[in-house]
Amino acid sequence: MTQRGFTRRNFLKAATAGTIAATATGPLIASSNSTKKLAIHGGDPVHRGGWPRWPIWDKAHDEQRVLEVLRSGVWSRRNVVAEFEKKYAALMGTKRCLATTNGTNALITALSALDIGAGDEVLVGPYTFVATVDAILLVGALPVFVDTDRETFTVDPEAMEDRITESTRAILPVHILGLPADMDKITALAKKHNLRIVEDACQAWMAEWRGKKVGSIGDLGCFSFQNSKNLTCGEGGAIIGDDERLMDICYSFHNFGRPYGTVSAGRGCVRLGTKARMAEYQAAILLAQMERLEEQTSRRVENAAHLTSRLEPIPGIIPHKLNDGATRAAYHLYAFRYQQEEFGGVPRSTFLRALSAEGVPCSGGYSPLNKCDFLEHAFQSKNFKKMYSPKQIERARQLSECPENDRLCTEAVWIFQSLLLGSRQDMDDIADAVEKIYENRDQLV
Ligand SMILES: Cc1ncc(COP(=O)(O)O)c(C=O)c1O
Repeated sequence: MTQRGFTRRNFLKAATAGTIAATATGPLIASSNSTKKLAIHGGDPVHRGGWPRWPIWDKAHDEQRVLEVLRSGVWSRRNVVAEFEKKYAALMGTKRCLATTNGTNALITALSALDIGAGDEVLVGPYTFVATVDAILLVGALPVFVDTDRETFTVDPEAMEDRITESTRAILPVHILGLPADMDKITALAKKHNLRIVEDACQAWMAEWRGKKVGSIGDLGCFSFQNSKNLTCGEGGAIIGDDERLMDICYSFHNFGRPYGTVSAGRGCVRLGTKARMAEYQAAILLAQMERLEEQTSRRVENAAHLTSRLEPIPGIIPHKLNDGATRAAYHLYAFRYQQEEFGGVPRSTFLRALSAEGVPCSGGYSPLNKCDFLEHAFQSKNFKKMYSPKQIERARQLSECPENDRLCTEAVWIFQSLLLGSRQDMDDIADAVEKIYENRDQLV
């Protein structure tokens, strides 16, 4: 039995037999949510107070750091960015870190440094933010989609090997929502087929795979510090890695291809590059934010565990699972799957509205990225037509079928990271709200 006095199976049995109301005061359902008017219909919401705001900053401490930069008149990349890079590399356990304007440019820089481009195929899961795939297309490579494991929300490594061809150059695993992808299987596959790995850890600061920070396992790892992110400066990004030469190339690329380290001097700019440099005030904000990151991560992890223990027994609610080997998740989002059948056929969109009305902001998350028009736009472009034969493009199109991912996109429910910074009572409110909707689901049909 769970702490709430009912098991998933008991609850389901009671529900199926239509005995929810009859047993509301009995031993099976200890919840106080039975036969209550849902907030969406004007009832009292479960959660009345606010939620922790985001981003969080300390007026005295954080503002001082930014003011110092402002008053110095040095706003372009210099000492403060360098200080951030040193501290972030130390935190991630890598030799090097390069700060960038954002996560998208971190990914583009990493792929470019690995010389991934025209004619190359990159394996990637479709359950991600569009920027992951944009980066692949923008370097001229072909994204080849690999289906998602619905239990863990991460790419399914078992579905990867049969996608590999002689054109495959890299795997781009995404630690989506802050949940580590299966790096054991991905690394083994990369070794076997001589592929490079660029980790998209844009949502996974401090997440760990077998005690190692994600982003530090592949050839290069990329991060985002955009406004909603658990570590933020509004817009910002970073690449981490241990390969000095590769990191020098990244540096050179993000600075117009100017010489840097082992990228030796020549006439002016020596490599093709772009400009993706972080500014000093961005780094000042990050340095202040970083001081709270460990404590905040622990709080999210603890609250997520409690939430899972409360949500698990509710029929039709399947909390995300972690891959074996994930020793810490970062929880940029807390995710569970909603099974409409168990809620008497109530559509997810209605469930989401009902949960929001109970005072719990939530979202249905991503729609299938592999079905979005930007892919065709890229495939039909002048560049892609010159780089790839119609046969190659057609193959990429056909391989973009990912039925598990399609289904996940209809089932997912996301709770935002800042809510996980709330109290234990706040987590109970989230679970109570879901329970209340379950118990009163007949009000929604
Ligand atoms: C998984 C993932 N990859 C890449 C990015 C791109 O990062 P940015 O928005 O900093 O460019 C994001 C940002 O939302 C992301 O969530």
